[in-house]
Amino acid sequence: MKKYYIKTYGCQMNVYDSHRVATMLNDMGFEETSVLKQADLVIFNTCHIREKATEKLFSDLGRTYLVKQERALEGKRTFIGVLGCVVQAEDEQIAKRTGYVDFALGPLTYHRLPDILRKVLTEVDEPIIDTEFPVESKFDFLPENTSQGGCSFLAIQEGCNNFCTYCVVPYTRGVETSRPVEDVIKEAKILVDGGTLEINLLGQNVNSYHGEDANGKERNLAYLLNRLNEIEGLKRIRYTTSYPADVNDELIDCHKNIEKLMPYLHLPIQSGSDAILKAMNRRHNSSQYLDIIARLREANPNLGFSSDFIVGFPGETDADFQATLDVVDKVKYIQAFSFKYSRRPGTPAAIMPNQVEEKVKKERLTILQDKLFDYQTKFNQATVGKIVPVLFETKGRHSGQLVGRTPYMQNIHAEVSKDYLNKIVDIKVESATMNSLSGTVVKV
Ligand code: 5AD
Ligand code: SF4
Repeated sequence: MKKYYIKTYGCQMNVYDSHRVATMLNDMGFEETSVLKQADLVIFNTCHIREKATEKLFSDLGRTYLVKQERALEGKRTFIGVLGCVVQAEDEQIAKRTGYVDFALGPLTYHRLPDILRKVLTEVDEPIIDTEFPVESKFDFLPENTSQGGCSFLAIQEGCNNFCTYCVVPYTRGVETSRPVEDVIKEAKILVDGGTLEINLLGQNVNSYHGEDANGKERNLAYLLNRLNEIEGLKRIRYTTSYPADVNDELIDCHKNIEKLMPYLHLPIQSGSDAILKAMNRRHNSSQYLDIIARLREANPNLGFSSDFIVGFPGETDADFQATLDVVDKVKYIQAFSFKYSRRPGTPAAIMPNQVEEKVKKERLTILQDKLFDYQTKFNQATVGKIVPVLFETKGRHSGQLVGRTPYMQNIHAEVSKDYLNKIVDIKVESATMNSLSGTVVKV
């Protein structure tokens, strides 16, 4: 049996895609290994969002080439494939730049992997590159059983039409497309039948979902959430990532009416400065964003928010940066992701004047993260002493320990029986740090 090794960079959509790829390879008779040296097939599912992720890929590829050469001395062949957003951006360059990549597929063509792999393994010596934006939907060609345990991702929307000026997504994942309602419901039911208790709906711009129902009528995310709410056995629903300007009243109502919808929402603002938001081509300013947050809080006062932030966007002044800090103080995020602006070739912001110096970006990131981490730590510490329902997802580092998530996406570990894996259990929180909680089972 041939072995494969797969490494995933980037977002949750990539994690979902890699899982699909792994299922396809298992169906073809391959077996997964976590040891690179044992792999006959090495796959990298790549991210292009910031320069660092792309650089990491090329250093991993270099290391893999050395392993390939070592294995060749033992008479073993190694095939190397690259998938995902870097492929879409680099096209043939990826094979030319390395000279040893056997195949490269963009994020919208990886369903063709079985065919391409058969060719690569048997017929051709030339690298195969496929970066088409195909007419067929990859979802129609992918394996149906995608259960990832108690907690599963489900992609409902892909691509983006927003063209934020810093972002590669519209170029790598293409224009926005939504999967039909019934396809999503069918996949959700398969997941739940396979033991999934929590579904996290994925899309680059998930709340602009506009899939067709069985009658060809366009339906929105609120409709889909209500339909998912009806699935017996499904306990928790989440959706990510949302675009603030596309949060509508119906979606806000869902946070009031759908108990299965977890009280945590990732709603990126990127910057608190209206001038910067405009230069980013965002369709909202900071007060509109804060108004949406207020309306969501009115619908569900227990909601906790997270966001993405970019510091050092071209032209960002100290006052602009201060506006970002002010938003953080107003919203008091319970989690957040923050990045230094990274120039991406081909995006409008890459050629904007007044690029911010690296040193300034670094200073601002530190200041912002200190503030964000402070709020996150305080929120976690306020959980101590409370009893929270935890969905245990994986084994912990120590034996006898499981790691799970609270409704607020906090990581929590506890010494509990492994029978609790993929189950929801009440846990009393005993201690908290910035990154995780620990607790004990509540005796019944
Ligand atoms: N530089 C830095 N961060 C970026 N992001 C997207 N593009 C860039 C870039 N060029 C961040 C945004 C987005 C998250 C997924 O990555 O904050 O929400
Ligand atoms: Fe990275 Fe964006 Fe592609 Fe996800 S969609 S892998 S974040 S470039």
